[in-house]
Order: sequence, then structure tokens, then C-alpha cells
Amino acid sequence: MSVEIKNCIAILQTVYQSKYGTPDLFVKSPGRINLIGEHTDYNLGFVLPAAIDKAIYIAIGKRSDREIHLTAADLNESFSVSMNEMEKSKMDWPNYLLGIVDQLVKSGAKLSGFNAVITGDVPLGAGLSSSAAVECATVFALNELFVLGLSKLEMVKLAQKAENHFVGLQCGIMDMFASMFGKADAVIQLDCRSLEYHYSPFNQEGIRIVLLDTCVKHSLASSEYNVRRKECEAGVAFLQKSYPEVASLRDVSFEMLRELEGQVNEKVFNRCKFIVEEIKRLQDACLNLAQNDLISFGKKMYETHEGLSKLYEVSCHELDFLADHAKLNEQVLGARMMGGGFGGCTINLVKESAVPDFIAQSEIAFQKVFNNNLKSYIVSIGDGTSVISIA
Ligand code: GLA
Repeated sequence: MSVEIKNCIAILQTVYQSKYGTPDLFVKSPGRINLIGEHTDYNLGFVLPAAIDKAIYIAIGKRSDREIHLTAADLNESFSVSMNEMEKSKMDWPNYLLGIVDQLVKSGAKLSGFNAVITGDVPLGAGLSSSAAVECATVFALNELFVLGLSKLEMVKLAQKAENHFVGLQCGIMDMFASMFGKADAVIQLDCRSLEYHYSPFNQEGIRIVLLDTCVKHSLASSEYNVRRKECEAGVAFLQKSYPEVASLRDVSFEMLRELEGQVNEKVFNRCKFIVEEIKRLQDACLNLAQNDLISFGKKMYETHEGLSKLYEVSCHELDFLADHAKLNEQVLGARMMGGGFGGCTINLVKESAVPDFIAQSEIAFQKVFNNNLKSYIVSIGDGTSVISIA
């Protein structure tokens, strides 16, 4: 067991003991990165995410009544509610757990009340999907605790529904899938239409994955996310008039895209153009990966950033600055903004020997322009959601 896991489990044990006694089990669910394939999940294209070595941890135990008692150890906050009167909490974090309970109850699962404490080392608001990690940890823990017999895929779908319906973000399936199905040293090539997936080894020899966290989250993030979905749907609706077989942007060819130009407003066209290009780019990037050609792979990451910034318009000054700054450095194979956008992190593939200089130079440059501190994380690819045995 790594030091990080031991520390998190120790926190859970202490806090759980002081509040509720002895937990029945501990579950860990990681945050995620995505190498390429952004905003393609809800357009039923492909994504290439991986789970990371930073996770959310939950300690959980049954109660004999129908109450739910929750504690967020890192925030030093507690919340309780009866299962008979569950509604969205004004505090933010309980909703990620309550949304899961809500979906489980709706699906007919037999639950009683429970106590839970959460902690973790996934940086919050950095675009590493700490919320999906909380949801996956919760559903996995409840599935074990109440012997519900759900498969991993059923739990992923349930967690996505919880986020869509209880929390209110119309996110795709990528974050939950990556957290649940992650595998050490491998990226997941996921087809978001069929949900078929396979693991591709990601050879990190001589290369490190460096995340640079702008520490900003512009207020547009969730409202614009839902707007992007609508714009993509508008493009699909237009094309369906001539091509009834088109169910999503996944089905749109470059020829169809050319027909769309001038027929829909420019924004809708640009959104669709980015997605159709990004789906193709990801497929080409996977071939690069199979040949261990990280140079060509990295170039595609820069192209993705350009598209996200100019066509999809989900970047921001801070992210554009970091991607441009990385591009000037020959030791960086590829860099781009990652996740939903409007803040959070860039993901950078950096030659191992150059990592300290790259981080130091980025911090200085960022501070100079934005008068703000940059955070950096060097991440490894880890396993997905699991029970932590402490015996
Ligand atoms: C967020 C969403 C995901 C995905 C990404 C963009 O992380 O939760 O479903 O759409 O943005 O690729």
C-alpha cells in the first residue's frame, strides 16, 4: 500500500471512529486524465482516458434506520438526511453521494441507512473529475455493502445518471468510465456509442505526464457545457433532414460536414467541425500510440487544443497561454487543455529529464502574465475503483 493510500485510510479511520464507530468497508476511486478526444463522449465518438494515482476514498457502514450521515473529512463538514425526505442539498458535496442513492432507490435497490466519510487527494476543481470519483466510490461501496449485484458498467451508467439528473450537469460517460475501469499503465480506448473498450499500453519510459493547473474555474464552465451539447444537437438535427441515418456527430462524414457549411450558423458549424475532426484525430492518434510514436501523438494534442480554443471555444486565456508556452519547448511532445474547459489543467507529455525545468519555467511565465500561482502534478496511470483491504 502506497504512503498516499495509507494516509487517506488513516484519516478515514480516525474520523469515522470519532463520528460513527467502525466502518464495514473502504473503497477507493481515482480521478482521471484524458489524452485526446475531448467533448466527443456525448457526441458518441471515442475518448482515450486513464485513471490516475490520485483518488477519492470512502469509509462506509450500515445503519439500522433509514438515515444517511455523511462527513467530508477534508472540509470538516457533516450532513445528514432521512432517506424518506431526500432532496438536493444546498451544500455542494453531499449531492454527489445523494444522487447515487436517489438513482439506486429509483432502480428498485433495497437499501437501509448508512454512514460514510470521504477524503482524497484529487485536486478539486482542476478538471480531474473528483466528482465522478466520489460518485463511483459511492456506488461501488453501496453495491458491496448491500450486495446489490451491479456490474461495473451498470454502476458507471448509474453514476452518469446521478450527475445528469441530481447534480444537473449533462456530462457524458467518460469520467465515470475512466474512474471505474482504469488500469495501471494503460489508456482506455472507449467507443462511447457501443461502450466497447480496450486497454492500450501507455509506455511512459522516458516520458512523464505533467498537469499544469491554472487554478481558475470560469463561471461559464457548466452552463456553456450544456450549450455546447445543444449546438452539436442542432447540427445533427439539420443533417437528419437529408440523412435520416445520422443519429449523432459520430455518423457525420467530412462530405456531410461540407454540406453543413453556410446552412447553419457559424458557431454550430464550427462546433460540428471540431467534433468530426476530433473523432478522426483520436483514431489516428491511437495508431500512433500503437506504433509508440509519441511525437506524432503529441502533435495531435496541439491540434486538439487549437480546435478546442478556436472552433469549440471552451478554452480561456490561461489555458491558451500554457499550451502556447509548452509548444515553444522542444522537450514537450504535446500539450493541450483537458476536460470540459474554461479553466482547470493542461496535460503535457514531457521528456523526463526536462520535467523540473519545464515546471519551473511555466510557473515563472504564468506568474508574470497572470500574477497567479500555477500548480503542477506529475501523474501516473493507476487502477480503477476497488475495495481497499486493510487487513
Ligand atoms: C467533462 C465531462 C465529460 C466530457 C469532458 C469533455 O469532463 O464530464 O463527460 O464531456 O468534459 O471531454
